[in-house]
Amino acid sequence: MASPDEPTSPPPNTRSIQEEHDQLRALLHELTVADITGAVPLLRRLRELLVRHFENEEGADGFESVARRQPQFLPKLEEIFEEHRHFLKRVDSLVDSTCACARHRKEILQEIAAMAHDLHEHEMKENALLGDIMYTDLGGHH
Ligand SMILES: [Fe+2]
Ligand SMILES: [Fe+2]
Repeated sequence: MASPDEPTSPPPNTRSIQEEHDQLRALLHELTVADITGAVPLLRRLRELLVRHFENEEGADGFESVARRQPQFLPKLEEIFEEHRHFLKRVDSLVDSTCACARHRKEILQEIAAMAHDLHEHEMKENALLGDIMYTDLGGHH
């Protein structure tokens, strides 16, 4: 914690960091309600935002200023910066798996459409056959 004799020590650019936190929270909400296809561009956007946000937090206007002035926070800062690396890896992995899932979903939908089309043609063929049979039948009894 900050020592009580330094309460006026200027904080990092708290407003800018908190604005980014609000922006991130809104994007995360969108992500949690998105379907797989919609999640792909949102995850890419999240990655861009996180890269910028982490740079801001780790930079001279961010927590780095704290590290210089109040070294007692160093272990906590190292933990937080380490989490940044980890989150970027998780987002990268999610982009990959979500893209793969979206591709798979598209292939499945195409397969369903092809099957529906072929089944329709199959039934039209049967309808035509039923018509021919009925015609031949009636013809036979004449
Ligand atoms: Fe943050
Ligand atoms: Fe952070």
